[in-house]
Amino acid sequence: IKKIGLFTSGGDAPGMNAAIRAVVRTAKYYNIEVVGIRRGYEGMINGEMFPMDGKSVANIIQRGGTILKTARSEQFKTADGRRLAYDQLVKHGIQGLVAIGGDGTFTGARIFGSEYDMPVVGLPGTIDNDLYGTDFTIGYDTAINTVIDAVDKIRDTAESHDRLFIVEVMGRDSGLIALRTGIASGAEAIIIPETKRDINALMDRLENGRKDKSSKIVMVAEGEDPGGAFEIGRQVKEKFPNYDTRVSILGHIQRGGKPSCMDRVLASRVGVAAVEALRDGHRNEMIGIVHNEIAFTPFEHACKHHVEINANFLKIVEILSI
Ligand code: F6P
Repeated sequence: IKKIGLFTSGGDAPGMNAAIRAVVRTAKYYNIEVVGIRRGYEGMINGEMFPMDGKSVANIIQRGGTILKTARSEQFKTADGRRLAYDQLVKHGIQGLVAIGGDGTFTGARIFGSEYDMPVVGLPGTIDNDLYGTDFTIGYDTAINTVIDAVDKIRDTAESHDRLFIVEVMGRDSGLIALRTGIASGAEAIIIPETKRDINALMDRLENGRKDKSSKIVMVAEGEDPGGAFEIGRQVKEKFPNYDTRVSILGHIQRGGKPSCMDRVLASRVGVAAVEALRDGHRNEMIGIVHNEIAFTPFEHACKHHVEINANFLKIVEILSI
């Protein structure tokens, strides 16, 4: 393989730049040319491509976001869009692709790989950690550290005012950010999309939990439910008018910031493995790390519905918030 294309797609994640750097430098090491594709599948369709060399990725390992920019492409979901993308790849002499992203990215890559003779390997880049086939995704460690930093601050003011805070964290269909940060910030309860939301159980917990606690934190994953944390806050206020309740949505600060050491190392390891995998003839696989070893998982298995919530984590919250 002589020339590969590289792109980031879907929601950005801290550590994507470290992965870009690793792919470009590894390709250089093996004398493979790299073409950077801007704005994910959207840029592929529009031919937003440029050559990358070792120098073009200097001084980015510590930077959040993605220098390649990213997008969620509607056009690539259509057969016509994918045909345009393929034509652009051929025009630029690209013989293989490295995709950095999450489940949407890999769903697109899987369909594309079944339609066209173009090897694609994927690197898990999402703050959600909701991909099967890797213990952690690039960006998750940084995001959960950003969350606990923020919630520690919320705890200070909650404690001073004797308040109950409903804190909403990211994860449209995954509670893995809420689960871990809930434990780490000493939350009283965690509400995640994977376990059916039981508002009565939450009320029960607030009613029968320790009375002498001056501050309480309820961690809520974004989820699909209308109203999210605000709706929960409304119901809590209605049931416990004497609680001084506030809602705090952490939002996109969770996606920014400089990547943690863990994310930089993870990104570097899988980035090197991606180029080696393409050289070895791998295709349609995500490259992750399982039990500290590089692991290959077909795209169709990597997508999120295969990730299970560790029920022990919820139990830990219940035990420790007594
Ligand atoms: O998948 C990453 C993520 O940050 C999710 O946690 C969140 O639900 C979603 O993206 C938000 O997407 P957008 O930035 O497009 O609103």
